[in-house]
Order: sequence, then structure tokens, then C-alpha cells
Amino acid sequence: MKVLILEDEGAATARVAGIVARSVRANPAAVLGLATGGTMLPLYRLLRDMHRDEGVSFAQVTTFNLDEYVGLAPEHPGSYHSYMREALFDHIDIDLARTHLPRGDAPDPTAEADAYEALIAGVGGIDLQLLGIGRNGHIGFNEPTSSLGSATRIKTLTTETRAANRQYFADDETTPRYALTMGIGTILAARSCLLLATGAAKADAVARAIEGPVSAACPASALQMHARATLVLDRAAASDLKLTDYYEHVHPGGGESEFD
Ligand code: PGA
Repeated sequence: MKVLILEDEGAATARVAGIVARSVRANPAAVLGLATGGTMLPLYRLLRDMHRDEGVSFAQVTTFNLDEYVGLAPEHPGSYHSYMREALFDHIDIDLARTHLPRGDAPDPTAEADAYEALIAGVGGIDLQLLGIGRNGHIGFNEPTSSLGSATRIKTLTTETRAANRQYFADDETTPRYALTMGIGTILAARSCLLLATGAAKADAVARAIEGPVSAACPASALQMHARATLVLDRAAASDLKLTDYYEHVHPGGGESEFD
């Protein structure tokens, strides 16, 4: 794992934006796996700016989002379809026909999950998968005890996750209980993974993911099995790590090492 520790949220977010922009410049037809959540909003703002000011083009990029709430139509303001349009897609030159999220309102969510896996396989897999991390260590909506080999399927959200996401919905009743999410196996199949974590609330989950045992109890720890996983952290999110001196020795200032 590449552990890059940056001074603050702005610097960590800019580091991730730089990696995404570099990937798209190197491969204009890249297949990107996208994430949602509060952490990604400043990242998408930076990518919008890089599109506008630096000519980063997404015209040939294909995207697959990690997840969507079961029961929500794409037009629902709390859906991740809406989030992605508002945060990114409406502001860049991406072809909407090449953007994908699971349909939360699919009549048969299990068939939708299988079709989503087939769609990803059909384009040859994901080149770069963006990830956030939940306070409980989830990636996508793979809550603790998710199978480390799982594919896209329905997951029941934990009370903790529903509480964290309540701010995006009118009240307790309307906060969705289920999500369609790529599995941990789906995520591990991406050719590279790029996780962004900022803020002290993520410190415990980050430490368990990087330095804890590989365990379904902390789904992000599965990234230890991935040959090309980069975790970009701000100092607050890195504050529970024990091997910080080593990470900073290998990647001073969160930059590249001599060999990678
Ligand atoms: P957050 O969500 O960015 O809103 O903290 C991250 C996640 O739950 O994966």
C-alpha cells in the first residue's frame, strides 16, 4: 500500500485530484470508479476547476459509481445520481451515456446488481477506483462483515451509516435502509484503487484499514490485498497510525518515492 500523508484536507484532496487528472491525461478513455460522500465534494470541485482551467477532458472517460440507495429514482434529490450530476457531471465534458450508477428504483434490484457487474466486465474492468472510507471502515456500502469476495448486491445499511447520511434526507423515515453497492471483490478487481480520507473522525478506521488485520470487520482492510492501492490522508485522518515515520520516509510530504 502507498500511504501518502498530506498536511491538511486541501492538500490531500489536491493530491488525489492530481492523480486522477494524470490518469485521464495518460489514458483519455480511462474507466474510472467513482465515489460519493462529503469527502469527495471538494475533490469534484477541484476536478471541475482542472477541466475549466487546465483542459483536463473527460470526453472519452467511462465511469461506474460504487453505489446507490435502493428505492430512489435517479431524479430523487438524495440519490447518488443527483449527487453526481450536481457535483461533477453537469460541469465537465463527460458523455452522460458513459456514466453508470446502479438504478436504485430497478424493479428487480438483484438482477440490476448482476447487470451492473456485467457492464463493468463488458468495458474491460475499472482502471482507477476512487474510494472514501466510513467511520466503521466501510468502502462503498460494504458494511463490516461484508464478504471480502463480494460482488455488486444489496446491503442493509448500519444504523451508524444511516445516521451519518440522515443530513441528506428529510427525516429518519426517509433515510434509505438498503443500498446497491459494488462488492469488495468488485473493488479489488480494479487495476488500481485510490482512497481519500480526511478528518479526525476517520482516524480509527484508517488505522484499522492500514495496520490492522485483513478482516471483514474492517472492509477497507481488504485493500491490503490489492497490489496497487494508494491511500491519501490528511494529518488528522493519519493521526492513529503507528508507522507514520516510515510512510513519511518513503513518501516525503506525500510525494512520489524514488522508485514509484
Ligand atoms: P463521507 O463518506 O465522505 O461522507 O465521510 C465516506 C463513506 O462513507 O464512504
